Amino acid sequence: MYSEESQRKLIEKTKEFLKLDIKSIDKKTAEKIIEDLREVIRYHDWRYYILAQPVISDYEYDKLFKLLKDIESKYPDLITPDSPTQRVPSEITKIFPQVKHLTPMLSLDNSYNEADLRDFDRRVRELTGLDKVEYSVEPKFDGAGISLIYEKDLFVRGATRGDGEVGEEITNNLKVIKSIPLSAKFSSFDIYKVEIRGEVLIRKDIFKKINEERIQEGLPLFANPRNAAAGSIRLQDPKEVAKRGLEAFVYQITYAVDKNGENLLGKKLKKHSENIKMLHLLGFKTPYEVLKVCNGIDEVIEYCKEWERKRDSYPYEIDGMVIKVNDIELYEKLGFTSHHPRWAIAFKFKARQATTKILNVVFQVGRTGAITPVAKLQPVEIGGVVVSSVSLFNEDFIREKDIRIGDTVLVERAGDVIPYVVMVIKEARTGNEKPIEFPKNCPSCGSPLVKPLGEAVYRCVNINCPAQVVERIIHFTSKDAMDIKGLSEATVKKFYKLGLLKSIPDIYRLDFKIIKNIQGFGEKSANNLKQAIEESKNRPLYRLIYGLGIRYVGEVTAKTLASAVNCIDDLKNFSIIDLMKLPDIGDKVATEIYNFFHNDQNLKMIEQLKQLGVNVCNPKEEKKGKLSGLNFVFTGTLKCCSREKAKEIVESLGGNVLDTVSKKVHYLVVGEEPGSKLQKAQKIGTIKIINEEEFLKMIGKT
Ligand code: IVH
Repeated sequence: MYSEESQRKLIEKTKEFLKLDIKSIDKKTAEKIIEDLREVIRYHDWRYYILAQPVISDYEYDKLFKLLKDIESKYPDLITPDSPTQRVPSEITKIFPQVKHLTPMLSLDNSYNEADLRDFDRRVRELTGLDKVEYSVEPKFDGAGISLIYEKDLFVRGATRGDGEVGEEITNNLKVIKSIPLSAKFSSFDIYKVEIRGEVLIRKDIFKKINEERIQEGLPLFANPRNAAAGSIRLQDPKEVAKRGLEAFVYQITYAVDKNGENLLGKKLKKHSENIKMLHLLGFKTPYEVLKVCNGIDEVIEYCKEWERKRDSYPYEIDGMVIKVNDIELYEKLGFTSHHPRWAIAFKFKARQATTKILNVVFQVGRTGAITPVAKLQPVEIGGVVVSSVSLFNEDFIREKDIRIGDTVLVERAGDVIPYVVMVIKEARTGNEKPIEFPKNCPSCGSPLVKPLGEAVYRCVNINCPAQVVERIIHFTSKDAMDIKGLSEATVKKFYKLGLLKSIPDIYRLDFKIIKNIQGFGEKSANNLKQAIEESKNRPLYRLIYGLGIRYVGEVTAKTLASAVNCIDDLKNFSIIDLMKLPDIGDKVATEIYNFFHNDQNLKMIEQLKQLGVNVCNPKEEKKGKLSGLNFVFTGTLKCCSREKAKEIVESLGGNVLDTVSKKVHYLVVGEEPGSKLQKAQKIGTIKIINEEEFLKMIGKT
């Protein structure tokens, strides 16, 4: 949707806007720039939410957004309904009005195997009189169905499916989903009014995090991403909706008319695959990249099978494929039953559910002391993976489902989402099933467990409890925190047992002479680990804050905290009220953060990490100097100074110095007797090759 040329211009404009000072903006200038600024923000939304490839930092984005908000609050008459600021959550909605869909939201007929698909193809061929049919095949997204209406290029109404005829109007909730454009240039395709169908989804990894947080907070869990999405779009508070990380895919145009009210479907808009391409170009999230146009049913079957094999590696939950006749003109001939269109069918993947028996229940201690019951199962294969244990989350979950040891249960595994018990098969009970007894004492350290008022989980409150210590170290080293490869869960447990790792700072005190001799470790893996630990010292501040495992502080809150300070120690000076002034931090979270930074043991740990060389600060602002974002490589000897000194100067001006020549490099600085890097850079062609004098000029030195 954006050509390279237009992207370049937008990035240029981004830089200009980042330098702009709002105080000096008069109304005339504001009028002149405001639409450009919105275009720039929309572009960065698209890079972030549609492509997932941002080109600016969160910090810079926030700055642009704030600039727009400031201008709009100074000149409110310049606000337009499709301004990016209008996504900001509106007031609480008490009831969602009922609205009639322009065309009914039907279901799809289902198929489960090759024979069903061939039957479908035969019916289509009979009704159309064609020998071979062109189909468009795309994933069947497993989320909550929505219907969107755009009129005169503006998003005017969004609704749930409801009973198919009438749905609930949820426009305000959908406006906070950044992958739904608030405006789109349908007019450039002569479309005046259009109804689009789609699905609100939660990415599998985000879903996992939401549930983990809900466990921490003792809230009931979502059974799967679909339920989470469906529950989220009907929340009364759009602010809460905004926190759920929702995305929307659109996959069908069901109504499109021009200025005169003439229908365009099957006329100007001829093919489904082209409609999807159009929606993609207009900035929507669509199945464009994964949609395949198949000539005949054999290709369809092949593509469905391919996707059944790779469904787990797709970031979104899908429960099948949808096969649609590609030629929209044929829709009329094929028509509908009362339940589904005859021009489309769903191919459902095999259900990933199985029944098995609960052999035993054990209790695990989490990093915050929460006790989680885990059922050990008679191992059973579900969708190619053997499942032998499943979390029962908390006592409420067990009581609600009436789960007992010895029960036969239905277990579901949805993608990389953790398996869970859907229900107990009560008919299979023999009378020998035993109720699950909760322990009174911590299974790791023996301290008495407590169940705080209003929470669903029991906790061990001994912060030196060995199980908690191990879990805290595991969390610290995990991928989203300090990302120390080589310190896996098993390795942490092993090192703890051996007495090598008793606390988080111990990670940076490991004695590699000892590690080399541990069974299963050798020189090589010890060296790799050493390097991974070294690298982790330079992680951004928010990762350290997240890694500390403060209760309720997930990645988002960690980022909020990191951007509110220069260095971690500054957090000691925040009162609970100060913390609550930060975005999305309520009193419960603020209290936990405050307590964490007023606990001697924690402060000692932070001090030790600092002493051991772990980064505890944000990069200095002034580094955003004139070389910001530029990569340099040096070759040959410099007259002015040592390589180290030159590197220091480049970095102090915000640039980076790399060791090797690649496409990422912007400048190659050539000193005396250059090496092979020069030739390599010449070959790449996009690298600017400069001599020492030019370099010195650039950094303002002679
Ligand atoms: S087309 C008239 N395409 O599945 C048919 N539906 O079980 C319009 N769904 O109601 C639907 N992914 O909510 C279509 N790529 C896709 C889909 C899809 C998911 C949902 C949709 C539909 C339900 C039927």
